[in-house]
Amino acid sequence: MSVVEEGDCSRAAGLRDVADRKHIEARLIAAREYAELARDEADRANLEKSRFLATASHDLRQPLQTLSLLNGTLRRMVTEPNAVDALWQQEQAIGAMSRLLNALLDISKLESGTIKPALTDFTVAALFTELRSDFANLAASKGLKFNVPDECTDCVHSDPSLVQQILTNLVSNAIKYTREGWVHLRCLREQGLVRIDVLDTGIGIAADQVRYIYDEFHQIGGSTNASRDGYGLGLSIVQRLVQLLDLKLNVRSEFGKGSAFSLLLPASTNRVKSPYVRSERTPACQPHVGEPLVLLVDDDQAVRDATRMLLSVAGYRVTAVASLTEALDTTRSDARFDLLITDYHLSEGETGLQVITALRERFGPALKAVLITADTSSAIKDLPLDPCLRIISKPISADELLTLLRELLAN
Ligand SMILES: Nc1ncnc2c1ncn2[C@@H]1O[C@H](COP(=O)(O)OP(=O)(O)O)[C@@H](O)[C@H]1O
Ligand SMILES: [Mg+2]
Repeated sequence: MSVVEEGDCSRAAGLRDVADRKHIEARLIAAREYAELARDEADRANLEKSRFLATASHDLRQPLQTLSLLNGTLRRMVTEPNAVDALWQQEQAIGAMSRLLNALLDISKLESGTIKPALTDFTVAALFTELRSDFANLAASKGLKFNVPDECTDCVHSDPSLVQQILTNLVSNAIKYTREGWVHLRCLREQGLVRIDVLDTGIGIAADQVRYIYDEFHQIGGSTNASRDGYGLGLSIVQRLVQLLDLKLNVRSEFGKGSAFSLLLPASTNRVKSPYVRSERTPACQPHVGEPLVLLVDDDQAVRDATRMLLSVAGYRVTAVASLTEALDTTRSDARFDLLITDYHLSEGETGLQVITALRERFGPALKAVLITADTSSAIKDLPLDPCLRIISKPISADELLTLLRELLAN
């Protein structure tokens, strides 16, 4: 090849290089723009999915609440054996639906970022005490040894009710997936961290399955069915909570032998004087005499009617109204009532707290009240401890509501 030809070649090659580079750059820019568009699209789709999930599960809750209360009412009225059996089965179905709905709501709240952790120092012992009382009977009914140490003095720094939710899911799984042997809780100190172990001698998880257990609706060894008492959502909620609280969760498991879930929490540098407690009771409320009279405030007519029917069948006298104004109007003429039951979210931005405050201004601060909420908003979380007030979250069962009323009135 001649020198001239060589020069031409290299110039031509240089031009081709420049053209190639421009071409590649243009394609890179296009690819980046495309990726950004796709990500925006995915974000939007995800947000829409969360919103859909939140709305659907929230709106399903009211009719489910109505069904549950009506079932409770009918169970108190019906004696024919077949009808009793049908109602029992209906109750099981309503219970399963409530659990699924609760799990979906938990996930949608965690995804939309509405759950804000309230960090504080608390003792592991306080968590263990609750777990012991929540699960001792269930474990015993399966013949399992349930060992929860009571000498855990370690303090941790996190959100106690969210950590409780994590451990509740883990312990519930440990018991559910263990046919014989034991379920143990343990608490250890580990380099500035506190490790809580949930150990079981259950069916274990095969090595190739471990990575899937946190997936939504994933249950090992089969399609979801209600007879397994779960929907494969527990661990996906756990994983989201662990991320939200910036904790660590490790799992070790051996198929056929058992599993160990370890939750790592930051140790607290302070000593906690008063442990975290869920509720406290002190008998200082307004006493009632004779037949209990209830004032019921709920803006949803179906729920209101169902609650009124249940309470009437259970022997209460009920006045039911839809709003704060109506509540004030009815109590103006007939001043006597023993207990106020109010929904939290009322129409037109009114809240059950306003109803309680207004009626307590009229009848005194010891007026007994039950506040029924669909969500645990911060307004409720921050309420001072009040022995004459009970807060319960929807969906509530007829039995739960009646037990709570009996306890509150007995004070
Ligand atoms: N302690 C455990 N022992 C054995 N398998 C478990 C354990 N915990 C979870 N799993 C497996 O992981 C799956 C997902 O758990 P989870 O999301 O809590 O769903 P669910 O409890 O509703 O089945 C379970 O279906 C089960 O197969
Ligand atoms: Mg579970």
